[in-house]
Amino acid sequence: MSSEIIFEPFRIKVVEPIRLSTEDERRQWLADAGYNVFLLRSEQVVIDLLTDSGTAAMSQEQWAALQAGDESYAGSKSYFELEAVAQELFQKRVIIPVHQGRAGEHLVFHELIERGAVVPSNGHFDTTAANVRDRGGTPLNLPCAAASQLRTSAPFKGDIDLPALKALLESHHEQIPFVLMTITNNTGGGQPVSFANLSAVKELCTEFRKPLIIDGCRFAENAYFIKMREHGFADESPKAIAQRVFALADIVTFSGKKDALSNIGGLVCLYDEELAERLKNRLVVTEGFSTYGGLAGRDLAAMAQGLREVVEPSYLHYRIRTIEWMVERLDRAKVPVLIPAGGHGLYIDAAAFFTHLSPEQFPGIALVNELYLRGGIRAVELGNVAFGSTDESGKPQFPPHDLVRLAMPRRVYTEAHAGYVVEIILSLFRQATQVRGYRFVKEAPVLRHFRSTFAPLD
Ligand code: F0G
Repeated sequence: MSSEIIFEPFRIKVVEPIRLSTEDERRQWLADAGYNVFLLRSEQVVIDLLTDSGTAAMSQEQWAALQAGDESYAGSKSYFELEAVAQELFQKRVIIPVHQGRAGEHLVFHELIERGAVVPSNGHFDTTAANVRDRGGTPLNLPCAAASQLRTSAPFKGDIDLPALKALLESHHEQIPFVLMTITNNTGGGQPVSFANLSAVKELCTEFRKPLIIDGCRFAENAYFIKMREHGFADESPKAIAQRVFALADIVTFSGKKDALSNIGGLVCLYDEELAERLKNRLVVTEGFSTYGGLAGRDLAAMAQGLREVVEPSYLHYRIRTIEWMVERLDRAKVPVLIPAGGHGLYIDAAAFFTHLSPEQFPGIALVNELYLRGGIRAVELGNVAFGSTDESGKPQFPPHDLVRLAMPRRVYTEAHAGYVVEIILSLFRQATQVRGYRFVKEAPVLRHFRSTFAPLD
């Protein structure tokens, strides 16, 4: 297959019309939404790249599985089908369904994290970090050195810094309940973690007698990157690689809204029967009985089928190649896009895109809003607003990078859509100096990107 063509390995049987709009209409809608794209209605968006979570197009087999879903309260046939698929893939005996990923995090952390705990990771997702803090713990990200070099290519920028992890396990041994590895590393640009890095983490966990938890949301994308980039894996299937990765983990937390190609659902997978009992007892209080965990039987069935499909090499090739194709075109035009391409989206360094804006003028918000105004494209700021804060003296605190993420929903958009997004970004980049910054009108107290409102600067 020519690398210049993105071959979508599916035919389209059901279509959902895209409501086109004019820039004037969008200008009004964005002002009404307080210049925060989270507050738009979805019909006001042309290409929605806000997230790859819960936004996948399901296959005919998944829709058929929905029809056959068993809605029994206890002992549903759909649960046992999902259990069998998940046991084989995640290499764990106990499979606990939950309504989405963060519910699983809440469940596990409730049992394992005590006040004062320190949780090391290659990169916590924001809800994962919030669930650690909720238990009185401190999430600590130890990304490898290459992760901070946005414009320098390296094959496994999602890796954890192993010497830093070892030093922390030595200095804070008593406070560390487990080590958490996120594959791929979402907040670090959707970058993969190598098998070598995961194996070395496992060795450290064994040496220091700590469980290893894998947040496996995007495990199939990570497995494909290992196959393509890591020595010795070229002849292995993505599924076999995923099984080898998961065999290293004591516990897997998983959001089915990503690599189960489902619109809802999640799992906790583990070996430890005694811990599983405690999780199931709490599950009944918070999510539901242990054979449905807050989901309808049909959702369990759709997840089971999605887990079978997501490891297909032709699908993974299309998926990874789409984002790579967009990144290649942007990189060639010197747009400051994070390289190499991530698995589920492209990330733009907004500070480098708008060099005339200071961090206080929120370049990331300016980029998100301009993409919407010019092209009806909805992206998300993962930078100064999302990860920054205002300290007690009123001084703003900013994260190291002001990133904007354009996440691709799975199997939803075609090469034409990807090309359109690239065109809009390129035309905006040529006129970047004309774009103004933003200020807060209402600053939300936590996870500020969701609910804050803004005004453009004069
Ligand atoms: N872990 C990672 C790495 C994630 O990316 C997410 C969600 C979760 C856990 C939580 O899963 O949404 O099912 O509760 N990420 C979405 C995103 C929301 O847009 O990146 P959830």
